[in-house]
Amino acid sequence: MKILVIGSGGREHAIVWKIAQSKKVEKIFCAPGNPGIVEIAECVNIKADDIEELKAFAIKEGIDLTVVGPEQPLAMGIVDEFEKAGLKIFGPSKNAAEIEGSKAFSKDLMQKYNIPTAAYKVFENADDAKEYAEKHHPPVVVKADGLAAGKGVFICPTMDETFLAVDIIMKEKAFGDAGNRVVIEEFLAGEEASFLAFTDGETVLPLASAQDHKAVYDDDKGPNTGGMGAYSPAPIITPSMQKKVMDEIMLPIVNAMRAEGRIFKGVLYAGLMLTKKGPKVLEFNARFGDPETQPILMRLKTDIVALFMAAIENRLKDIKLEWDKKTAVCVVMASEGYPGDYEKGKVINGLDNLKDMKDVFVFHAGTSVKDGRLVTNGGRVLGVTAIGTGIKRAIKNAYTAVEKINWDGVHYRRDIGAKAVSSR
Ligand SMILES: Nc1ncnc2c1ncn2[C@@H]1O[C@H](COP(=O)(O)OP(=O)(O)O)[C@@H](O)[C@H]1O
Ligand SMILES: [Mg+2]
Repeated sequence: MKILVIGSGGREHAIVWKIAQSKKVEKIFCAPGNPGIVEIAECVNIKADDIEELKAFAIKEGIDLTVVGPEQPLAMGIVDEFEKAGLKIFGPSKNAAEIEGSKAFSKDLMQKYNIPTAAYKVFENADDAKEYAEKHHPPVVVKADGLAAGKGVFICPTMDETFLAVDIIMKEKAFGDAGNRVVIEEFLAGEEASFLAFTDGETVLPLASAQDHKAVYDDDKGPNTGGMGAYSPAPIITPSMQKKVMDEIMLPIVNAMRAEGRIFKGVLYAGLMLTKKGPKVLEFNARFGDPETQPILMRLKTDIVALFMAAIENRLKDIKLEWDKKTAVCVVMASEGYPGDYEKGKVINGLDNLKDMKDVFVFHAGTSVKDGRLVTNGGRVLGVTAIGTGIKRAIKNAYTAVEKINWDGVHYRRDIGAKAVSSR
């Protein structure tokens, strides 16, 4: 088979890496890809949201399967366009991807189908939003409705900050049209977990559990990022919690989407808060998470291409997933200053020292090649992912590798996976 993967981050590098292990594969393309991906796939210089160009390429090359990494092309309807052209593509249609593309839509859907989530209200006007927020005790959570690259959510400890957040979203339009509506919601206390599943719109096949680390500094301090690291499995997702999440959240939401005429096919990702009153949904994503995908796919033994095809062809009920029992830990190495401003173009040293380390793989995210040297080119630069027997060994393997890599202004958290150790 000829396969095209769309995207250029650590998540897409992990997807390509896993696809490359499939016996069904003859050739992998990635658009636009990155300097890590180029070692295992042919990178094509087409942007991830240039649907027309991607479609023309898939037709010209006779691509048998396209896999979409990021949310933007899904929200723009890439799956519908490819299917119209008779191309096989893994991911939700435009109207199904709205579960991520509009937080107001997803909250209303959860409310309608009694799926546990924070109390909320949606507003189209800043003054109304503030009037409602004022009736609640801080902290109050303010969310832009649309896609905001992980920057549209504000946890506001005071009413002043709540008002400011509403203004940033609705008046300053910091996220453009994504801020035409705002969701004001109740603050939920607890521990977060990511729950990912393959679904063909009917069968829900959960992936191994994972937990990511959103905050930029150790002990969950500092602003939220796209994710500074992740590990799998997450001991907090016990077998009984897994069953509860499946019964109360994943199966009901997939059935709800079908009932609404928005059959969801692809990877459905629930961001959960495990509260004292049980698991509640913070949001749904319509695709693989980054960086959770890196440790999860490192543990997946099943042929992922067979899995993609089964989801497309409604055969997931016949599939059983197999997992490596070991633990995988991914430490994200980032540019100093991220998630705010940061410099690019710093020479990355030490990757050659890792060549002989088995149990470790370095997924590229924001890298590029300048004058023949690998340099930083984004906020999140590398996802150093290691596998090991038990969480402690996996952490040790990951950080042993991390310490061999450096550049001017490198930043990473020192406590990835520590939560899983202390909860034992
Ligand atoms: N109701 C809530 N209570 C407490 N924390 C929340 C709540 N909603 C979101 N958060 C925090 O904000 C982060 C981002 O929110 P989320 O809804 O996942 O939006 P996005 O990933 O699109 O930025 C979550 O990972 C969580 O840490
Ligand atoms: Mg989220």
